[in-house]
Amino acid sequence: MGRQVTARKRRRLEQAVPAVAQPAIARPLLRWYARAKRDLPWRGTADPYRVWVSEIMLQQTQVERVRGYFARFLEWFPTVHDLAAAREHDVLRRWEGLGYYRRARQLHAAARRIVADHDGEFPRTVAELMALPGIGRYTAGAIASIAFDMPAPIVEANSRRVFARLVGHDRPLGGAAGDAPIWEVAERLVPTRGAGRFNQAVMDLGAMICTPDRPLCARCPLANVCVAHATCRVDEIPVKAPRRRSRQMHETAVVMRHGGHVLVERRGPGQWWEGLWDFPRDAAATGRKLGAVRYTVTHHQIECVVRERSAARRSPSTDKRRWVTVAGLATLAMTAPGRRIAALLKQSSSI
Ligand code: ADE
Repeated sequence: MGRQVTARKRRRLEQAVPAVAQPAIARPLLRWYARAKRDLPWRGTADPYRVWVSEIMLQQTQVERVRGYFARFLEWFPTVHDLAAAREHDVLRRWEGLGYYRRARQLHAAARRIVADHDGEFPRTVAELMALPGIGRYTAGAIASIAFDMPAPIVEANSRRVFARLVGHDRPLGGAAGDAPIWEVAERLVPTRGAGRFNQAVMDLGAMICTPDRPLCARCPLANVCVAHATCRVDEIPVKAPRRRSRQMHETAVVMRHGGHVLVERRGPGQWWEGLWDFPRDAAATGRKLGAVRYTVTHHQIECVVRERSAARRSPSTDKRRWVTVAGLATLAMTAPGRRIAALLKQSSSI
């Protein structure tokens, strides 16, 4: 970094590196990995179920957060059969706090398919794995390579950055079109044997050395074959896509009370947090203001005012609406704002 190179030299390097022999990358990378790899609870096993659960959890969640959830989830659902036999609500309950609940619903649906259609055995090819709910090219590649030693490439947040810098790819990444050239690089570099180890080494390199800010190029086993490094563009690659502006929204949640019970509703299909419980929303609601909770979903920033009202009677409970005690809220799988409103409620009733 900090060195100037001529445009001609830059062009020459860009053309040269993609042609670097695969072993010139795999060998130093795997040597580094053997020495420096992270000690993660889902490593050291080729059990496809454990690999799958960990990869789904890791999709939108930091490694450190996943550690605890992974161990607890496996205690509740030790095998794909246990997961398939569980009720969806119980799976969502064990997922609560990890966010992106579609992942949990799809995990559950896929477990049922594996048991019903594949006798509880995981399919081994990327194509068959991708036919299961919630398994895209990345997760299929991770399971096929880590559990079955198939030469399948993977591209996720860390490896995407490593590959982009390695070949000096200076276009914005993300989305199918943005990532297509990176998948090509990954495909070309993944070895025919030991692909799982290679893929995990690339991810660890991205997490520990080839970090988004202040990468540690001086300690990188691939520095001498890296185009971004040679052309002093490590800070510019990957190129950032323009950010979407976040939208401010307002809503009112109603805590409807009746004789020690409160009314909760289950989120329906197409709504955020489908299948999870929350307090009803009603823009026209009146009643005593209990407080407000602020939360973010995708690119929306939402301010939710919480009001409390008494109901004249308790309507019958259904699959979509239920009256529960405040203590009973603890056993429900709730949305993130719903859980915060429940906390507000406990606080206000203990004053
Ligand atoms: N991020 C996603 N999957 C991972 C894995 N198997 N190892 C390390 N980091 C990861």
